[in-house]
Amino acid sequence: MKHAACQIDKAYTIADIDPKLYGSFIEHLGRAVYSGIYEPTHSRADEQGFRQDVLELVRELSVPIVRYPGGNFVSGYRWTDGIGPIDARPKRLDYAWLSVEPNHIGIDEFVDWCKKANTQVMAAVNLGTGTPQDAGYMMEYCNHPAGTYWSDLRRKNGHKEPHAIKTWCLGNEMDGPWQTGALSAAAYGEKAREAAKIMKWIDPSVELVCCGSSSPLLDSYPEWDRIVLEHTYEQVDYISMHRYYENEDSVENFLTSYIDMDEFIKTVAATADYAKAKTRSKKTMKISFDEWNVWYIQKQVRFPWMEAPPILEDQYSLLDALVFGGMLCTLLNNADRVKMACLAQLVNVIAPIFTEKGGRVLKQAIYYPFQQVSTYGRGKSLKTLTKADCINTPDRGMVPAMQTAASYNDEDGSISVFVLNCEMTEDTEFTIDLRSFGKVEMVEHSILAGPDLFAKNTFEHPLAVVPKNEIPVVGTTVFQIVLPKLSWHVFRFFVIK
Ligand code: AHR
Repeated sequence: MKHAACQIDKAYTIADIDPKLYGSFIEHLGRAVYSGIYEPTHSRADEQGFRQDVLELVRELSVPIVRYPGGNFVSGYRWTDGIGPIDARPKRLDYAWLSVEPNHIGIDEFVDWCKKANTQVMAAVNLGTGTPQDAGYMMEYCNHPAGTYWSDLRRKNGHKEPHAIKTWCLGNEMDGPWQTGALSAAAYGEKAREAAKIMKWIDPSVELVCCGSSSPLLDSYPEWDRIVLEHTYEQVDYISMHRYYENEDSVENFLTSYIDMDEFIKTVAATADYAKAKTRSKKTMKISFDEWNVWYIQKQVRFPWMEAPPILEDQYSLLDALVFGGMLCTLLNNADRVKMACLAQLVNVIAPIFTEKGGRVLKQAIYYPFQQVSTYGRGKSLKTLTKADCINTPDRGMVPAMQTAASYNDEDGSISVFVLNCEMTEDTEFTIDLRSFGKVEMVEHSILAGPDLFAKNTFEHPLAVVPKNEIPVVGTTVFQIVLPKLSWHVFRFFVIK
């Protein structure tokens, strides 16, 4: 039997958790839009062609913000192709994914979809082939009330009220050699700054995200972040981060991906603080971790020049869901800097929700940890002092076999503790010490585990990987639980008044 103990003190607050930590992402990529959120011929389509079965699952996830329309797609996208009468919209080649884009969905429809999904839009402008002027026109179309060419065009297209989109991305992954119109850090910094000036002149209430490093594996990291921020510091509110993990050669490395994610966040935060000092700014730069997930990038297949090709349709296993839970904990543990994050993506494309064209909808394994943390990881993020026996990982050496995070909602007195047990061979005797709260009651213990690490939910076996409820342990301050090897847990407590 292995041992681990976690002490949580209600005085050790990391930060208030911004609800935008639980954002997600819909890109014009593969079947995310077409036969994902939108399929007019589907039996559950609403009057606008949106799939209501998908909307129901999105609402269950409590996603406060959804990034749109890309991703790599945005860097060659003309947003004007996606407005006006649908039949008159052009079909275009999408260079990012070598697909054909029919433009049946554009910004107006996506705003409508977000209202139905109880979420908000995080809009991205094209700073690849697009210009600062195009970005300004899009801002004017979306957020200016009326009386100008672009705002009146929106009204003519059926949206009298401004979309009032609050959060905007200044391009996407402009450091990536794969990006349409990729730029050097200085060239991007200048372009982003000029776009930002126009956008904030049009609507000073918006928040802007500049592109940070799209991976710590790029040679330009972290210099990219420094240079971009030195050009844009006063104009932007967030710097973005992107990171995906896959099971390459070692389950131990993969399970502990959260350590790499944490180091990446700390480095970008330190780089941003350097830029703050260098630019003599009083503002602390927020981080938008607006793409994160497990993604088997090396296994991707392409179907060139198809409409809505079935690409990036990763099917997630129990192991993937465990890794994913560890990443969620890291986001919570960095809630003082990471004020927004987007699970990439939401439907069909590396996503928790998977559809059949003309058919059923499925919750993938990663759906569950996301839903749990998005639902319960609200209020304040608390520091967890966790000591655990170590596991040996090829890349990171001996590391504690446990990742934890906690949240406390002082309005209703609820405490949630999230635990990833990476121990691979034995059960772990685990202690949660909550004595600083006075008396508490455990009301729920949910566990995600199983004999087959590679089990996946399929339409034939949709419940192969689902959390199960254990009987809560009785106690009032210190709780002892045996955690099976390789497992994800959510513990819920209420303070007894
Ligand atoms: O989410 C899939 C792709 O990953 C996005 O389009 C891009 O920004 C990233 O490289």
